[in-house]
Amino acid sequence: MPKTARARKKTAAPARRTGARHPQPTTVRIEPARPGDARDYFRLLLTALPDEPLPTPEALLSLPPEQFTHGPALCLVARDTRTGKVVGALIGGVPVWIDENPLTNQFTLPGVLLGALMADRIAGIHAIGVDPDHRKQGIGRALITTAEQHFRDAGFKLSTLNHTPDLTRFYSRLGYHSSPQLIILVPGDHLFGEQAPGYLMAAKPIAPRVEVVMLPQAPGPIASGLFRDCTLPPGARFEDGRLVAP
Ligand SMILES: CC(C)(COP(=O)(O)OP(=O)(O)OC[C@H]1O[C@@H](n2cnc3c(N)ncnc32)[C@H](O)[C@@H]1OP(=O)(O)O)[C@@H](O)C(=O)NCCC(=O)NCCS
Repeated sequence: MPKTARARKKTAAPARRTGARHPQPTTVRIEPARPGDARDYFRLLLTALPDEPLPTPEALLSLPPEQFTHGPALCLVARDTRTGKVVGALIGGVPVWIDENPLTNQFTLPGVLLGALMADRIAGIHAIGVDPDHRKQGIGRALITTAEQHFRDAGFKLSTLNHTPDLTRFYSRLGYHSSPQLIILVPGDHLFGEQAPGYLMAAKPIAPRVEVVMLPQAPGPIASGLFRDCTLPPGARFEDGRLVAP
């Protein structure tokens, strides 16, 4: 079994607040989803993506581990250790926009398409959902940090996701920078921008020497250090929509 596919166990901390207005603490284990979890897994994901077509649940969860827990997909559940019930779900993998953005399949760097290089470095959390009765107990945080560890173990350098503006604080406390546009510094000092209309794009470095930098007047945070010899020079600034090196 490849290293990335090993079941990892992580236990969400029990809630600190246990008054009547707060849910009872739940002890959960974060682990790869099992085929028998399909119904609850997709029900919870649909709370995050009500309009998205999702793959056939049973088929996806029956895939053997490859790049991630289920073929190309990272499918994690938060399981209540007392009842065995699935109370949280996360799906991730390589972000869809890398394949869909026409530029990633046109722009070539010596012998390789930009999209192929990005798909080796940038991972994405497609959706996360926690059962309404189990929210605010650290389960969402545990799912995300476990997903980031899978991404790191598979060699990815940047974790990304899209979210609605109301979740900016939730993701910023987890180390994500959110903005309408994510900018990626690619070889040749080119800047690649990606937007998700109606959503904010969030990114978090998960490897050494990778940074997400806010430059005054830049249209969004710039992910730097993803490619070899490709980092923002100290003192770089943005002027008239262009990156200016000192
Ligand atoms: C967003 C969601 C996954 C968070 O799950 P959760 O288990 O409640 O999150 P956690 O308990 O780990 O929260 C971590 C922190 O974020 C805060 N937080 C959680 N949900 C929040 C929200 N909707 N808005 C603002 N802050 C939030 C928590 O209070 C907690 O703060 P703390 O560290 O000070 O205690 C959950 O609310 C959910 O399933 N929502 C519906 C689906 C959705 O919107 N998914 C995200 C889009 S893909």
